[in-house]
Amino acid sequence: MNPIKVGLLGIGTVGSGVFTVLERNQTEIKGRAGRGIEIAVVADRDTERARSIVGERAEVVDDAFAVVKRPDIDIVIELIGGYTVAKDLVMQAIENGKHVVTANKALLAVHGTEIFAAAQKKGVMVAFEAAVAGGIPIIKALREGLTANRIEWVAGIINGTTNFILSEMRDKGLDFDVVLKEAQRLGYAEADPTFDIEGVDAAHKVTLMSAIAFGVDVQFDKAYIEGITKLSSADIRYAEQLGYRIKLLGITKRTDKGVELRVHPTLIPAKRLIANVEGAMNAVVVNGDAVGTTLYYGKGAGSEPTASAVIADLVDVTRMHTSDPANRVPHLAFQPDSMQSHIQ
Ligand code: NDP
Ligand code: HSE
Repeated sequence: MNPIKVGLLGIGTVGSGVFTVLERNQTEIKGRAGRGIEIAVVADRDTERARSIVGERAEVVDDAFAVVKRPDIDIVIELIGGYTVAKDLVMQAIENGKHVVTANKALLAVHGTEIFAAAQKKGVMVAFEAAVAGGIPIIKALREGLTANRIEWVAGIINGTTNFILSEMRDKGLDFDVVLKEAQRLGYAEADPTFDIEGVDAAHKVTLMSAIAFGVDVQFDKAYIEGITKLSSADIRYAEQLGYRIKLLGITKRTDKGVELRVHPTLIPAKRLIANVEGAMNAVVVNGDAVGTTLYYGKGAGSEPTASAVIADLVDVTRMHTSDPANRVPHLAFQPDSMQSHIQ
C-alpha cells in the first residue's frame, strides 16, 4: 500500500521532533500504522531552517495555506501555534477533507466546539493527544483506558514551565525571571510565556480534559484561572517548613451543581507522589468510580516527548483512514455522558 501523505505546518520545537522521530522509528511506526507515513511537504516561515532539518526528504514551502489545499495530502499536522492563522488553516484543512493532528491546546480550548463540529460534519478526525501533558498519553487514557468509568475528578500538574520554575526556585533559590528564561531556552515555554505563568496554558489543557472526562462542551471561558506570578520565594520556603509543596494544579471535578474547572497554586503535603513531580515533568491524577485513583507521569513538554504524542495520533488517524469505511466507528472528539452540560 502507498504511504499516507502528510503536510507538516510549522517545523519549530515540536515539528522538528516529529520529523526526526518519524524518520528514526519508521520501521516500527509503519508496522503499527499498517502502512508507511510520509511527510511529503513542510511549511514554515523560515524555509532555510526548515530545509536544514528536512534536507531533500520533503518539499519545503513557506505558504501553509497552499498545503491544506493540496489533493495529495491526507493528513495535516498543525504545529505553528496561536489562535488566528492556525484556526484558518485547520478549518480550511477540514473543509478540504483532510484529517488534522494538532498540539495546539490554545486553539482547541477556545475554538474547539466549532472545529470539532466542522470535522464531524466532514467525516474527518481532529486528534490532539499532544495538546495535553506533552508525551503522557492522557487523552487516550481518559477516552479509551478509562472508558468504563464514571470519572469523578481529574487533577494535574500540566504546565512544565511553571513546575520547572517552582522546582528551581525551591531547590536552587533561583529568581523567577532567571528560571523562566531557562525554560524558554529549553523550548518548554509558549511563544507568549504569560500563558504559562498566568495559568492560561494549564487552563486550556484542563478544559480539554474536562470535556473528555465529563462530556461537557469545551468551555475555557468558564475556567477560574490563577497563575504563579504572585508567589514569592518566601511562600515556597514557608510551605516547605510546614511540610507542603506548592504546585500549580489544573482541576476539574464532577459536583451536584455541574463541573468545576479551575487552575491555581495548591498546597500539597510533601509526602504525596504528585508533590514530588519536579522540573518540567507533568503528572495527572484521574479518579474513576470503577478503577479508583490512577496516576500518569512523564515529560509534559519538549521536542521529542511532544512528538511522541503527535505521532501516536498520526498512527491512529492512519489506521482509521485506511480501515473499511463500512466498519468504522464514528470518531467523536467528545462523548457526552449523563453530566449536566455546563461548568459550575
Ligand atoms: P515553535 O515556535 O518552536 O514552532 C512553530 C514554527 O511554526 C516556527 O518555526 C514558526 O516560524 C512557524 N510558523 C509560525 N507561523 C507560521 C505561519 N503562518 N506559516 C508558516 N510557519 C509558521 O513552536 P512549538 O513547536 O514549541 O509549538 C508548536 C505547537 O505545539 C504550539 O501550539 C504549542 O502550544 C504546542 N506545544 C508545544 C510544546 C513544546 O514543548 N514546545 C508541547 C506541547 C504542545 P517562526 O519561528 O518564524 O515564527
Ligand atoms: N508551555 C507548555 C508547558 C508546553 O510548559 O507545559 C507544553 O504544553
